Amino acid sequence: MMADHGDDLSAVGGPVRHIPVLLAEVLEALAPTADDVIIDGTFGAGGYTKAILASGASVVAIDRDPDAIAAGRSLEQQSDGRLRLVQAPFSTLDEQVESADGVVLDIGISSMQVDQAERGFSFRADGPLDMRMAQAGLSAADVVNSFKMGDLARIFGFLGEERNAGRIARMIEARREKRLFERTLDLADAIETHMGRAPKDKIHPATRVFQALRIFVNDELGELAKALVASERVLKPGGRLAVVTFHSLEDRIVKRFIADRADVATGSRHLPEAHARTATFSKAGGGVTAGDAEVAANPRARSARLRAAIRTEAPARASDLSIFGLPKLPGIQAPRER
Ligand SMILES: C[S@@+](CC[C@H](N)C(=O)[O-])C[C@H]1O[C@@H](n2cnc3c(N)ncnc32)[C@H](O)[C@@H]1O
Repeated sequence: MMADHGDDLSAVGGPVRHIPVLLAEVLEALAPTADDVIIDGTFGAGGYTKAILASGASVVAIDRDPDAIAAGRSLEQQSDGRLRLVQAPFSTLDEQVESADGVVLDIGISSMQVDQAERGFSFRADGPLDMRMAQAGLSAADVVNSFKMGDLARIFGFLGEERNAGRIARMIEARREKRLFERTLDLADAIETHMGRAPKDKIHPATRVFQALRIFVNDELGELAKALVASERVLKPGGRLAVVTFHSLEDRIVKRFIADRADVATGSRHLPEAHARTATFSKAGGGVTAGDAEVAANPRARSARLRAAIRTEAPARASDLSIFGLPKLPGIQAPRER
């Protein structure tokens, strides 16, 4: 069930099962008012967007998933022109509007995506080995069946933090010689059979490999880094950035960005005047996590962390992605659906 914001917009937008995470905290961080334009970079089931619309602000809502956009069309039609939906990767958020008073990102996949077996995100339900949020480009099956063994090991190691990355990659290489991987359960079962599973093991042995494939196929870390840099370009002075992440790889990127942009370096003997820089954001609080009541009502909130910052008047810095320390990964990144 969606949270009820007491307005007629909360009832529309199709059947929705995704419960927005840290909604009250996100609204507090964005503090939208009637004349504001807010970019919701991860529309999903529209939970944040509906609450922002209820404040009187306008919303430019982005999602790369055509299903999410299609399900949001009725909400758009009933918004009196205050909602514009855009199907695009959120790394392009500064191309969708000239300037904004707020940017919000709720990273990851929605409950609708994970619950639909045919989207191929879950190792618990049988479906095609797909995992593409945009439903276009390179699929998880393409990666598993065609990438070199060493490349698979690096993907599983870096993006899944899988300790047995090499062993699993070798198993995949041997097995695909005989039969390609096409289904989620086929891959999950092959990993479980190869690695074994003690009864006390709480998590399925394929959990980290599935996480790694999903992050790789959707270039999730690169997208996040580019969206943060884009938010610096599009936010007005005083504009607010709010980002909710669900694991440490993502949270580290947000933390590094805010620390870098809130840092003031003055001209000195070591840093000549030409390189002096002023802060482009001020940090707004530390990492906010969900309270016990929210976690009890929505277990997905357990690992959520919100970070927020406020744009200063300083001009945006050059977009240098090296500050994020992104892992150097092999092969083709998923083609961009621009
Ligand atoms: C966690 S859900 C957002 C839920 C939303 N806040 C709500 O309350 O309903 C994440 C959504 O962001 C979308 N998404 C993830 N990465 C994206 C990207 N790089 N560009 C555009 N959309 C993305 C997914 O398709 C998904 O629909």
